[in-house]
Amino acid sequence: MEILEQLYEGKAKKVYRTSDPKLYMVYYKDDATAFNGSKKGSIQDKGYYNNQISAIFFKLLTEKGIPNHFVELTGERSMLVKTLEIIPVEVVVRNIVAGSLAKRIGKPEGTQLAVPVLEFYYKDDALGDPMINEYHVKALGLATEEEMKTISQMALRVNEILVEHLTPLNIQLVDFKLEFGRHEGEILLGDEISPDTCRFWDTATQEKLDKDRFRRDLGKVEEAYQEVLQRLTGGK
Ligand code: TMP
Ligand code: ASP
Repeated sequence: MEILEQLYEGKAKKVYRTSDPKLYMVYYKDDATAFNGSKKGSIQDKGYYNNQISAIFFKLLTEKGIPNHFVELTGERSMLVKTLEIIPVEVVVRNIVAGSLAKRIGKPEGTQLAVPVLEFYYKDDALGDPMINEYHVKALGLATEEEMKTISQMALRVNEILVEHLTPLNIQLVDFKLEFGRHEGEILLGDEISPDTCRFWDTATQEKLDKDRFRRDLGKVEEAYQEVLQRLTGGK
């Protein structure tokens, strides 16, 4: 299989067409942005960490029956994935109050939520990814009611699987963002699952092990990504 031309370059990844019409190659960059691209920088070896961390989570989810786009790792910073027609709805699952929810509801970061909270955002950089609900999704024709039911169930199940996996590693899964797409009539989980798209807190110290270290200039950014990969691989 051959890697052909670049189809798309996003803020954190590049997507390439391959000679197999059903597969794309995704390359993870070290570039980091925050606040809808207004803060720019680079995190050393982030591409490597996020590719490896995403692969571990996608393999786990495949084992647990969550259909997703991951096929195989092809290099330190690249993976082969199934082609997806991305649904422009970012799905956020929250277990603990943090980030934009802390601001929106006026509760301190760290407040435990009684049940996981599901939120939807319209994936549109020009608009700054505004929050929407399932009526907007249906009214704008972004996805059908049935697709949204599947997506919501999958997102909550992903949360259960990740929490179960991370708890023994002393990582609290505060919140995370998922993206989904269509592949041959099926909804697959796509994008990445990494410290760029999740909030991970050390259970004992509440230390942040994710992109908030970059967003908030907390220092030790690379170290946080490395720490997450190390815990996931048991230091191997
Ligand atoms: P928020 O608290 O800023 O709304 O973020 C919620 C979660 O979604 C957090 O884990 C970070 C992730 N996220 C992304 O992956 N991409 C984004 O563009 C934003 C705003 C958040
Ligand atoms: N990914 C978004 C951006 O690049 C926001 C974020 O992750 O904070 O601006």
